Amino acid sequence: MRPRLWIAIDGPAGSGKSTVARMLARRLGLLHVDTGAMYRALTLKALREGVDLQDEEALVELARRTHITLTPACSGGGVRVFLEGEDVTEAVRSPEVSRSVSLVARVPGVRELMVRWQREMAAQWGGVVMEGRDVGTVILPDAQLKVFLTASPEERARRRQQDLLAQGYRVDLERLVQEISERDRLDRSRPVAPLVPAPDAWVIDSSGLTAEEVVEMITARVLGG
Ligand code: DC
Repeated sequence: MRPRLWIAIDGPAGSGKSTVARMLARRLGLLHVDTGAMYRALTLKALREGVDLQDEEALVELARRTHITLTPACSGGGVRVFLEGEDVTEAVRSPEVSRSVSLVARVPGVRELMVRWQREMAAQWGGVVMEGRDVGTVILPDAQLKVFLTASPEERARRRQQDLLAQGYRVDLERLVQEISERDRLDRSRPVAPLVPAPDAWVIDSSGLTAEEVVEMITARVLGG
């Protein structure tokens, strides 16, 4: 078997996972796998097809006939997400998808399929920085390094507001704090793969830190063995 380095980055929405995972992957020459983008792509498809998001069976059936792929982007950009061959990288970040994705991600049958695809990706790609909610606990329990990134809800809402603004969406901060707290509550309390740090995860509170500082800390640990 070829040597591989698996790094798991888990944490709640707006904790800085995506930025840190992207930068870290580039820094260490690994591939970046954004598992949240896969749940978002399936949610986008469900919304487009008008699937009832409360209907678990319909969501599993939808997942079974859905083809989602991630490709590492060239020229320094992030990973791109494809839904049946269509590039939906920007579309999966819409507020509508963000509001609905927890309903899709809580379905056990959907998660089973996603975890299978995510493990296949890690095995095929070799060295990966995989980010999500359950990477260290469920997808890659034997990852060499597990990081659980967190930050206060207010800080996370501010970051999300900036991201959305950059994409042309103007969203009220108060509303974002509420949405983030509600999404956390759903993600933490779901019976399957709840959002909790793995027992052997390194918990980093990024509230007072820049993404560069977090990447520096993680790189030092990886290179230092
Ligand atoms: O990281 P994100 O905001 O793109 O994640 C979108 C949603 O998917 C969020 O509600 C949590 C869920 N998710 C999950 O349940 N498991 C993962 N491995 C990744 C994301």
